[in-house]
Amino acid sequence: MSGPQLQLDQKNALQTWLFALPAPAKSGVLDDAAVARGKTVFEDTKVGCATCHSGAHFTNSATVDVGTGGAFQVPSLIGVGARAPFLHDGSAMTLRDRFASQGGGDRHGHTSSLSGAQISDLIAYLESL
Ligand code: HEC
Repeated sequence: MSGPQLQLDQKNALQTWLFALPAPAKSGVLDDAAVARGKTVFEDTKVGCATCHSGAHFTNSATVDVGTGGAFQVPSLIGVGARAPFLHDGSAMTLRDRFASQGGGDRHGHTSSLSGAQISDLIAYLESL
């Protein structure tokens, strides 16, 4: 992303600072039941979201190719609902678009077997993070 190469201690200090930033305030009213159902889908090992978006910051910090056009670092999902557009190239204008073809299909979590209602619940959960 341009700029000079950082030393490891600089990267660690930057990461600590970035992760300490507060998430933006949530806008709108979330449906708690949908959020809870979405959390279950997110954590379902057959769907696999939480294998990469894991831990307190929702990232294992790995660099992987999930079918979106190259290998990218797994982004934190804290505050994700407030930072459209999504994916490295901004090709997903909405969180729903992230589940369309530009989102990488089944290389990016096993989503093809999910119903429309389950995708909606997942989106509600993502908006709650
Ligand atoms: C194999 C690791 C992996 C799995 C499994 C995975 N993701 Fe991701 N996720 C990534 C990577 C890497 C990116 C960045 C892709 C890009 O920018 O093109 C990403 C990007 C995203 C984004 C966009 C974030 C942004 O700020 O643009 C969302 C939302 C997301 N993932 C949600 C999910 C959900 C929901 C699931 C489960 C259905 C999931 N991911 C499964 C690795 C993963």
